[in-house]
Amino acid sequence: MNDIQMVDLRGQYLRIKDEMDAALAQVLNSARFIRGPVVSRFEAALAEYTKTEHAIGVANGTDALQIAYMALGIGPGDEIITPSFTFIATAEAAALLGAVPVFADIDPDTFCLDPVSVEACITSQTRAIVPVHLFGQSADMDPINALASKYNLAVIEDNAQAIGATYKETPTGGLGIMGTCSFFPSKNLGAYGDGGAILTSDAELETRCRTITNHGGRHKYYNEMVGLNSRLDALQAAILEVKLRHLESFTRRRRTAAAYYNALFENVDEVVCPHEAPRGRHVYHQYVIRVKKRDELISSLSESGIPHAIYYPVPLHRQPVFGMDSSPPVLPVTEQACKEVLALPMHTELTTSQQDTVAEKVINHATRLIHA
Ligand SMILES: Cc1ncc(COP(=O)(O)O)c(C=O)c1O
Repeated sequence: MNDIQMVDLRGQYLRIKDEMDAALAQVLNSARFIRGPVVSRFEAALAEYTKTEHAIGVANGTDALQIAYMALGIGPGDEIITPSFTFIATAEAAALLGAVPVFADIDPDTFCLDPVSVEACITSQTRAIVPVHLFGQSADMDPINALASKYNLAVIEDNAQAIGATYKETPTGGLGIMGTCSFFPSKNLGAYGDGGAILTSDAELETRCRTITNHGGRHKYYNEMVGLNSRLDALQAAILEVKLRHLESFTRRRRTAAAYYNALFENVDEVVCPHEAPRGRHVYHQYVIRVKKRDELISSLSESGIPHAIYYPVPLHRQPVFGMDSSPPVLPVTEQACKEVLALPMHTELTTSQQDTVAEKVINHATRLIHA
């Protein structure tokens, strides 16, 4: 057996153990577990890092999306346009509010929203476009923002997978009216539990978001609207504050690992490496290749003990929850991607010898299967 993992959170903890243990001990000694100075400090550091005015810590990335939608007043009958090739939360948070997620197709190279497909989805009910910066790379924001201006729509970036990425030198999360983050442990900036944040430079939206996170009230026991209890707790904020200080070096490690995989797969026709669009910095939340005969390949990789994952095997428009199991393909680029994508181990602790092992198995199995 090898010790290769998709994500090595323990190895990363050991790298920053002293700093992390001290930060946690401080919170435990302060006994301030909800709100308090650590949460405010982390929010300020996150806003600065993303070049936004405000960061609002919340309980997870799904709540961040729901609260952002609520802050815009999105509700029954409204439509939001999202990719179908994303995690369920992007659409689910809208559906929970009675809104309708309308699914647009993606660009085949970056897997992010295709602006042409977005425009075709716009109706008189559309309220927002929600691009997802998938796998750590920004969507093409200029044409998306241009559509939003033309049709008077809000843009909320689902930045769960791309903290630290840029679009034309601007950090993702600050390119629309709001951006949302997830601090799920395996994310590039991951807590040791759940966490999330909303980013915005609009003061009114910041107030609305904060009010919603606090049971719809700005002052204790005075409630103005229906809200949630959705807080980033102080222990998670302390963990994230430490990790944010290391995020640039973590990102460099991921990018170095991606470049090494690219070199190993160079001249291997059976493996299509991730495409880095020149528009910004890719932070490789995932290293996702495309291969033919993907499902046969993953059986062989499982037998060889090589970790792998499929993000995403079923597009959202084909999920039973959204009730559209129609054929022929309605979003052909998305559906093709679901059949071909394969995520390989990617994290800050990956060694070149582990990558050699992964690549060797992928190349051997893929070559054998595709030419069988
Ligand atoms: C694109 C995307 N959006 C939203 C979320 C939801 O984040 P969380 O798990 O923190 O609720 C995730 C998490 O996996 C995600 O990948």
